Amino acid sequence: MDINLIKKEALDEISQTTNDLKDLERWFKKYLGKKGKITLFLRTLKDMPNDKKILVGKEANEVKKILNKILEKRKTQLNKSIQVKTSSKEWIDVTAPGILSPQGSHHPISLVRQEIEEIFQSMGFSVTDGPEIETEYYNFDALNVPKDHPARDVWDTFWIKEKNNISDYKKLKNKLLLRTHTSPVQIRHMKTHNPPLRIIAPGRCFRHEATDASHDVQFHQIEGLMIDKNISLANLKGVLEHFMKRFYGKNIVTRWQPSYFPFVEPGLELLMKCDICKGEKCSTCGDGWIEVIPCGMIHPNVFKSVGYNPKNWQGFAFGMGLDRLVMMKYRINDIRLLYSGDLRFLKQF
Ligand code: DAH
Repeated sequence: MDINLIKKEALDEISQTTNDLKDLERWFKKYLGKKGKITLFLRTLKDMPNDKKILVGKEANEVKKILNKILEKRKTQLNKSIQVKTSSKEWIDVTAPGILSPQGSHHPISLVRQEIEEIFQSMGFSVTDGPEIETEYYNFDALNVPKDHPARDVWDTFWIKEKNNISDYKKLKNKLLLRTHTSPVQIRHMKTHNPPLRIIAPGRCFRHEATDASHDVQFHQIEGLMIDKNISLANLKGVLEHFMKRFYGKNIVTRWQPSYFPFVEPGLELLMKCDICKGEKCSTCGDGWIEVIPCGMIHPNVFKSVGYNPKNWQGFAFGMGLDRLVMMKYRINDIRLLYSGDLRFLKQF
């Protein structure tokens, strides 16, 4: 065989091999190994006439050298690329700044709710909750709300119509609704627990009304309930004034005024002097005072509806609007911001 043919074949083949060590080794074996084509060719030299032997021998050794060189070159290339690959994978710059993962924060409503829960827990109240979808019975009837009360109107309450009973919906005895306040939790709790008890129940409520800076279709309340023997207005006053001082600070000025809610008798309202204008009257408060906690002594009819004897037990209840407290605390002027999900707003807390 002609040495130049072997050379051409070997060069063609190596130019087509990928930079893979195994391929290169196979190539070496095929041409330069013990039984390789070049090696075998060199062995045939001894049978050649002397003059040809010298000439062809020289040529063949030259080819062997060239092929070896090429192989070495390819091997160093291969090593380099392996090094680059592994170093770019494994190289760690321990001085480089870390990658910060974005951190969330608590919603202002959650922050204030937690703070209020802690204050009441320190006074022996436990925290409970109830469903946001309620029945007419828990939301109104059991709370002594008369059948013709305007709150029961479709314009104040989101009624839930179940698909299968739409036609005779009006005749249904216990219609479903989105609770309009957290007061039904009082009833649920009293029905399943024996007095004495102290609870608060934070949660979301819904009303069917036009939205503006101070009204939204959803809002939060915290309901409170304390029942025991010999509970009087003095206890109500003591607990809620203590709460106000813990929440707003010792210098807060409060005032009481009578009010009406069907589920309490007497009904009251706790007001605080506006923190923004210090009682001088401003756009937030109107007359210098802000109503913060509607409350009262639990109505005997409510006790009757849960099976407590009103002669044996007394208690007070309250229900404060959480959103209002959040807005006052953080000076937020539009309730809708609380429900917007706008990260520019939420990231401030
Ligand atoms: N549920 C009332 C409302 O949404 C607030 C309220 C008033 C709750 C007096 C009470 C209470 O527990 O005693 O307007």
